[in-house]
Amino acid sequence: MVSANPVGTKPLLQVLEGHAQDIPPVWMMRQAGRYLPEYREVRAKAGVFLDLCFNPELAAEVTLQPIRRFNFDAAILFSDILVMPLALGRKVEFLAGEGPKLEPMKDAASLSGLRERVDHDVLAPVYETVRRVKAGLPDNTTLIGFCGAPWTVATYMVAGEGTSDQGPARLFAYRDPENFKRIIDRLVQGSIEYLVAQLKAGADCVQIFDTWAGILPPEQFDRWCMEPTERIVTGVRAQVPGAKIIGFPRGAGAMALPYVEITGVDAIGLDWMFPRSLAHDILQPRVPIQGNVDPLALLAGGAALDREVEDVLTMADRPLIFNLGHGILPETPIAHVEQMLKRVRGA
Ligand code: CP3
Repeated sequence: MVSANPVGTKPLLQVLEGHAQDIPPVWMMRQAGRYLPEYREVRAKAGVFLDLCFNPELAAEVTLQPIRRFNFDAAILFSDILVMPLALGRKVEFLAGEGPKLEPMKDAASLSGLRERVDHDVLAPVYETVRRVKAGLPDNTTLIGFCGAPWTVATYMVAGEGTSDQGPARLFAYRDPENFKRIIDRLVQGSIEYLVAQLKAGADCVQIFDTWAGILPPEQFDRWCMEPTERIVTGVRAQVPGAKIIGFPRGAGAMALPYVEITGVDAIGLDWMFPRSLAHDILQPRVPIQGNVDPLALLAGGAALDREVEDVLTMADRPLIFNLGHGILPETPIAHVEQMLKRVRGA
């Protein structure tokens, strides 16, 4: 058994404990990525994308690149949410310029190709990356581990790719909820083990990415988003008491409050569509907020970005982790990231 890492001087962990900071800690989803020339250079060396995810030396290097350049308050482990289906025995590939391609799961028969338990040998390089990053980080920088939420990972497993509305998984869940639940259950168990291993390897906290939460109607949201997330939160804390967990249910909208209350996450990441006054008055008294600059405002820069940053900062009198409302876009100029940081940090 390990206990959660000490809060110490890490501002992001202070916020997760419920203490607002004068200057909110800041990091960006997808902060290690194609907008950085130093990332593109390592990426070109690594070969296919998954080879980078499973190369601890290079994955640690790209995790640390945005910390060196921008001195963010957190590093997020460089990996991908789709290493989980791989560890459950599914085929996963990333084709250049096309995104992920998996062997689709069309019906109950596909479940025979799904392992009962995750193969930790597949994931071992990820744990090694966590150890290496931890050793290379300044004391006040938080290391964030992550996994995909079962629902979001299942949408890719069922469709075999990203689609505009992840309809195939919703259809599978309506037609055959029992077998869909078997997929979700394996992802819940696998994600608990995966997050616990990251925390034991040195992650200070973890984030659960539910990118496709917002396409579920309320009853389905309850069953496929909130319930599995609650089981992960409880399961992780049973092995790592006090483990700090951020949930990111993109597009949750009116379901954000029940999400916070039912899942028990320590903080909620909000997408850029979420109204900030509501977040401030209704969510923040209960739980710290992470978010939620529109990635397109960051791409645009100038006055639009300044306005957006100031608007997010209206939530800074309560516990706030400054972030984007989704991942940074590859075409974003570095100067715009610097503009944003200057405004947040006032220097
Ligand atoms: O945030 C970080 O910097 C850490 C690394 C990280 C990646 N993916 C690296 C990545 C994290 C946390 C993710 C999560 C992830 N992966 C999500 C959830 C969050 C989100 O962005 O919605 C999802 C849905 C995926 C699945 C995925 N991975 C898709 C759909 C794609 C293709 C689209 C794209 O942006 O290219 C990826 C590839 C991917 N994952 C890249 C990176 C840096 C780009 C691939 C490359 O560099 O060639």
